[in-house]
Amino acid sequence: MLLGVGIMFLSLFTWVTCSDSQCISAMPGMPGIPGIPGRDGRDGQKGAKGEKGVPANSNSLSMKGEKGFQGLPGPMGKNGPKGPPGPPGDKGELGPPGEKGMPGNHKRQYQSAFTMARTTKDYPAKNTPIIFNRAITNINQDYNVTSGTFVCHIPGLYYFVYHASQSSNLCVSLYADKEKKASFCDHMSNQQQVTSGGVLVQLTNNQEVWLSVNDYNGMIGIEDNDSVFSGFLVFPD
Ligand SMILES: *[C@@H]1O[C@H](CO)[C@@H](O)[C@H](O)[C@H]1NC(C)=O
Ligand SMILES: *[C@@H]1O[C@H](CO)[C@@H](O)[C@H](O)[C@H]1NC(C)=O
Repeated sequence: MLLGVGIMFLSLFTWVTCSDSQCISAMPGMPGIPGIPGRDGRDGQKGAKGEKGVPANSNSLSMKGEKGFQGLPGPMGKNGPKGPPGPPGDKGELGPPGEKGMPGNHKRQYQSAFTMARTTKDYPAKNTPIIFNRAITNINQDYNVTSGTFVCHIPGLYYFVYHASQSSNLCVSLYADKEKKASFCDHMSNQQQVTSGGVLVQLTNNQEVWLSVNDYNGMIGIEDNDSVFSGFLVFPD
């Protein structure tokens, strides 16, 4: 057997086949097909525990990072609810004077005149405006048939006058806004008679003028015995 190994060693360059007593050299054969790879080996043993790590720097952990870039602007929000109205603004400056207007119609602009008749045989109630119910002239309805008063719409100087047919004693007073301006009394001395009175009165806008009677109220208004109350603007202010 030792001899065999030696021969194997010697015959690295030539294939030698040996039996018990003789060796026969021969030509080397073709190399064989490589074998199938072996199976994986078993897992190795667990390694030793590693060295302790360097402790983290607590300062570096708590340090603030650098400020980031500013983000893109967000989408526009919805309109909020309407606020309460603000206080009124300051008064503006006075504008330039306007152009001169067209010449007005003086005759039309300042017209105020009336004559009203009282058509009843009944005596008027005392201490209240006498109603003159029939309009002979009543421009712009300045005499109010319902209230029995003339209402001033053009300030100025007015003349008022009455002519009353009477069948009994009669006292007539003229009032401007409850202020008695004049009184006229006439006692019956005939079967029928007419009494009258007139007065100029300065009036402001919306002042009212009327006639009234007291206990002597014998005013009538029948055919051929009229009682009329007249007034007209003499000078506008
Ligand atoms: C006339 O007088 C009555 C009673 O005072 C009043 O109600 C009415 O408004 C007056 N009419 C006008 C046009 O002013
Ligand atoms: C009304 O007038 C007529 C004619 O003047 C007269 O005859 C009559 O008596 C008068 N009536 C009254 C109530 O005064």
